[in-house]
Amino acid sequence: MSQSYRINSFDEYKEAYQKSIDNPEQFWGEIAENFTWRKKWDKVLEWNFTEPKVEWFKGGKLNITENCIDRHLETMGEKPAFIWEPNHPEERVRVVTYNRLHKRVCQFAQVLKNNGVKKGDRVCIYMGMVPELTYAVLGCARIGAIHSVIFGGFSAQSIADRLDDAQAEFIVTCDGAFRGDKVIPLKSVIDDALIGNKTIKKVIVYTRTRTPVSMIKGRDVWWEDEMEFAEHQVEKDGVVSFPAEEMDAEDPLFILYTSGSTGKPKGVVHSSAGYMLWTNYTFNNVFQYKQGQVHFCTADIGWITGHSYIVYGPLSAGATSLMFEGIPTYPDAGRFWDIVQKHKVNILYTAPTAIRSLMGFGLAPLQGKDLSSLQVLGTVGEPINEEAWHWYNENVGKKNCPIVDTWWQTETGACMISNMAGVTPAKPSWATLPMPGVQPILVDDKGYEVTEKDENGMLKGNLCIKAPWPAILRTTYGDHERCRTNYFATYPGLYFTGDGAIKDENGFYRITGRVDDVLNVSGHRIGTAEVENAINMHAGVVESAVVGYPHDVKGQGIYAFVIDNNTHSDDELTRKDILQTVTRIIGPIAKPDKIQFVKGLPKTRSGKIMRRILRKIAEGELENLGDITTLLDPNVVEDIKNGAL
Ligand code: WTA
Repeated sequence: MSQSYRINSFDEYKEAYQKSIDNPEQFWGEIAENFTWRKKWDKVLEWNFTEPKVEWFKGGKLNITENCIDRHLETMGEKPAFIWEPNHPEERVRVVTYNRLHKRVCQFAQVLKNNGVKKGDRVCIYMGMVPELTYAVLGCARIGAIHSVIFGGFSAQSIADRLDDAQAEFIVTCDGAFRGDKVIPLKSVIDDALIGNKTIKKVIVYTRTRTPVSMIKGRDVWWEDEMEFAEHQVEKDGVVSFPAEEMDAEDPLFILYTSGSTGKPKGVVHSSAGYMLWTNYTFNNVFQYKQGQVHFCTADIGWITGHSYIVYGPLSAGATSLMFEGIPTYPDAGRFWDIVQKHKVNILYTAPTAIRSLMGFGLAPLQGKDLSSLQVLGTVGEPINEEAWHWYNENVGKKNCPIVDTWWQTETGACMISNMAGVTPAKPSWATLPMPGVQPILVDDKGYEVTEKDENGMLKGNLCIKAPWPAILRTTYGDHERCRTNYFATYPGLYFTGDGAIKDENGFYRITGRVDDVLNVSGHRIGTAEVENAINMHAGVVESAVVGYPHDVKGQGIYAFVIDNNTHSDDELTRKDILQTVTRIIGPIAKPDKIQFVKGLPKTRSGKIMRRILRKIAEGELENLGDITTLLDPNVVEDIKNGAL
């Protein structure tokens, strides 16, 4: 593969950036030449942000799996595509070469076909971090089915909502998943999610934990049986093949649900060609991946980071991607460092919350670990505080590895604002400069571009993007109007990210966090309205309001103010019941860290909760609450302050 679009110096970055803005069609058209197309596109880009409608490489035909697998086989067939490190360090490591990956993906595509899956069908994938998860994802892409991966920490209710929204007809799952010393019974969660479901036709179950499962006749089938049968269909005389479905550049590749400021998660839809280009381009340039390197992204494939930087980005670049089944603290807090040493990891990409949590264990877990293979470090998911940045730099990178601070979102598909390792300058806790093709703009609450600097010489505002990049979300599944109102209506003509940012005199950006009602807890996005809805389901709850507060390890913690119906006598028990309810409705990741029972909430005369006041109280700032005279009943504030946790 040609590496013509590899940026090697700061000057080359500036040149590429300028070209991408002056002539985007030529810029991206040239980059697109580096991929395998069945048919070339007619037009590089057509767009408007009013509907919105964005089309990249219209008329082009391709299949992303041919770009991620087939085209590497001739020269790199025996190179590892995946190295899989199991939850338990004593268990056998699995190495999946590109040849093996090709075979397994073809086999699984055949399994899907045998079970009636067709192009455009939605397949829900709810699995642990096993190689089979990647076969499932890529098998869907191979036959043109739309995958919707759901993180293993979501509850049956959350899955049911997502299955319903996507009108999914097929599920791929595991009996269970290992996570540290826990076993998560995935299939039984799926069984609960399927009570009352009318769309699911088949459930394919891979055996990982040997957790007892109930297999329903006619609906549930075993992965192993299906794969064995399919093997004979796709392999003839030692040659493996399963023809990839020809996809339009704009055909949807996957749906991934994410939280917004409303109560219901939305299904972000990504396209085939644009998403492929963007993950590949950013993977190569941000991490400066070099052939032979081992890339370790610690995310779960249930999140966008795993989609883009464990699967599609690395594979499209012919890289070796390390996939880890377990958690950073099992069997002890040195696990990441053991993995780096064992597999000679060159690129480590993780979340600030993981770094902060490992910092809490001190330096002992790092002692005696050989981290000399590391060349590039990365962070993603939330703002990284300077302390964590320096700890990462000094103790993990030994001041020898550039750190890339990559800002992006589920909706953007891959990195948007980030330095490029060793190529463009880094600045601790700053994401720095936009990728070529990305045009950020900071606006005030009325939508006017911010031009006046604050007392520190910074521009400060709401972060928007002016024009489309190849992997911008195309729609929210089944509800395009929702996509419009969520992202394109707040500031007409702009894509609104939901984040606040500041910009320095060099044009570097620092993301300061969400400015909407979305929390970022341990790098996971959770809508406050979602948590409130879940709390309100509890029989004893009258009303609730949820806000975030600064948390040393998680970045943000969840603080819930709850009005209960006063029929109970034991607050502690009710707290536990509420936690149980949230776990049932959303999943353990959304459990509030603090629950304060209150008699009333600070509301305006029109009934709107003044979250600003609750946020301050949650942050422990009980004075200077600002103007409270517009409240319906200013007395409730005193009451809440007195009971603050
Ligand atoms: C936040 C994860 C600061 C941001 C890829 C964004 C960040 C949300 C950074 C998206 C970063 C992500 N610095 N904040 N480097 N990266 N964020 O959709 O608030 O799970 O809007 O995508 O994470 O989270 P999501």
